[in-house]
Amino acid sequence: MSTLITNIGELTTNDERGTVSNAAVVLDRDRVAWVGPAAKAPDADTLVDAAGRAALPGWVDSHTHLVFAGDRTAEFAARMAGKPYTAGGIATTVNATRAATDDELRAVLRRHVDEAVSQGTTYLETKTGYGLTVEDEVRSARIAAEYVDEVTYLGAHLVPPGADAESYVELAAGPMLDAVAPYVRWADVFCETGAFDESQSRRVLQAATAHDLGLRVHGNQLGAGPGVRLAVELGAASVDHCTHLTKSDVDALAGFDTVATLLPACDLSTRQPLPDARALLDAGATVALATNCNPGSSYTSSMAFCVATAVLQMRMSVEEAVRAATLGGAKALRRNDIGVIRPGARADLHVLDAPSATHLAYRPGVPLTWAVWRSGLLVRPPR
Ligand code: NIG
Repeated sequence: MSTLITNIGELTTNDERGTVSNAAVVLDRDRVAWVGPAAKAPDADTLVDAAGRAALPGWVDSHTHLVFAGDRTAEFAARMAGKPYTAGGIATTVNATRAATDDELRAVLRRHVDEAVSQGTTYLETKTGYGLTVEDEVRSARIAAEYVDEVTYLGAHLVPPGADAESYVELAAGPMLDAVAPYVRWADVFCETGAFDESQSRRVLQAATAHDLGLRVHGNQLGAGPGVRLAVELGAASVDHCTHLTKSDVDALAGFDTVATLLPACDLSTRQPLPDARALLDAGATVALATNCNPGSSYTSSMAFCVATAVLQMRMSVEEAVRAATLGGAKALRRNDIGVIRPGARADLHVLDAPSATHLAYRPGVPLTWAVWRSGLLVRPPR
């Protein structure tokens, strides 16, 4: 079945066509088959009239933690009353996750994936990291793979309370990694004070490389540190957070193809400063925006919120923010068939109930999603 979506007032393609006015797109099964001016569009089995609305590639959310159970409202409330965020809060979710059944974890994961998709997210990464035993990490990876596009092993999220750090690193870089590797494409570490130091992070990442996993790093979230430098040195696809960067971190990111993934909803929710997106972009680094949806530091699935924040508070242009939330995420996941609307790309299209993408920042907080196709399926019918 092919679908022609026509009368698109403003189409963001993220390829050499740039932004096209009065455009049309044909989706054929799971691929984009044709892109061009509405006046020249070929016929298709089904026709959708966008009536001048704007369309863009579906959001690529390249950083989430959705395999969890439990609730951390009280921690959030305490933070809003002045208590600082620390890595230690992760342990609350670890306890609840271990206690949950597979079906309970599935239900939470599915609810958040559906919530994201209904807001225009068409490609999702998620991580393990709330299990922290071999059995619970394998279980998290297996369940994640049932619902999301990309799964990351984050056994090195926190040293579980009561465990010895060195023995835990040995486990996370050894038997735990061996057991989880068949279910995941990526490995990540939380390289931060209170989590894993540089040498512990390096051990886990090098072991993951030996398993042919791609690398990602949580770095420079709560303070300046070695995360960015380590990610660049080891050729990680992405270093995520980048809230506290030195000039040499920015230069390193500009000189290599490790993507700087910014998570502004997390910074707001943990009362951190917002990352210096301007310094990164002006230096030539590739920037992605993602939600970091998780129950502790960033409980939102809204990519539109991240885009609005990036424009309103981080001095990114609308074009830069939309690109970072689509093509930037694709680059952070080393995919070239998503985050772009061109023939052959995955049929992931997001139509806004607005005449231009500028409305994402001009009307912050307003649900603007009108229709969503995910891999060719109409997952959010026009409203
Ligand atoms: O990306 N920084 C480490 N991990 C998550 C937080 C998880 C949590 O607090 O539960 C993050 O912010």
